[in-house]
Amino acid sequence: MEHTLSIIKPDAVERNLTEEIKSIFTKNGLKIINSKKIHISKEEAAEFYKVHQSKPFYNDLCAYLSSGPIFVMVLEGEDAVAKNRKLMGATNPKDAEPNTIRKLYGISIDKNSVHGSDSVENAKIEIDFFFKN
Ligand code: CMP
Repeated sequence: MEHTLSIIKPDAVERNLTEEIKSIFTKNGLKIINSKKIHISKEEAAEFYKVHQSKPFYNDLCAYLSSGPIFVMVLEGEDAVAKNRKLMGATNPKDAEPNTIRKLYGISIDKNSVHGSDSVENAKIEIDFFFKN
């Protein structure tokens, strides 16, 4: 069984979309095996998103992820990484396929409601980041 990390971002937590988004995962064969609601610091967000540190949007991205509570989950299932990414849709909600989470709920490329690990390798790193110990 594969595992991946999903984050419901501040824009979606704030709009009380957590239960709706969780149900999209569980109805589509992904089991939520661990989860918590947290509010991280800008420094923690910077560490989490360090792969993007050279990007022009890095500072805003870290400020945004630490701007309010987030809901983090470990999803388990067959092809969990790819399945989660398909359910999320494209990074920019404008480009996302109909009925994907970002198409349904995303506001902009920044406020795109969810994050999901992009590979099995990064999923392990991201799960450890939030759930080790
Ligand atoms: P996420 O999957 O969380 O990974 C990095 C985030 O950076 C991405 O979702 C977007 O919300 C945000 N972002 C902002 N601008 C861009 C951009 N030009 N390209 C990709 N991601 C961006």
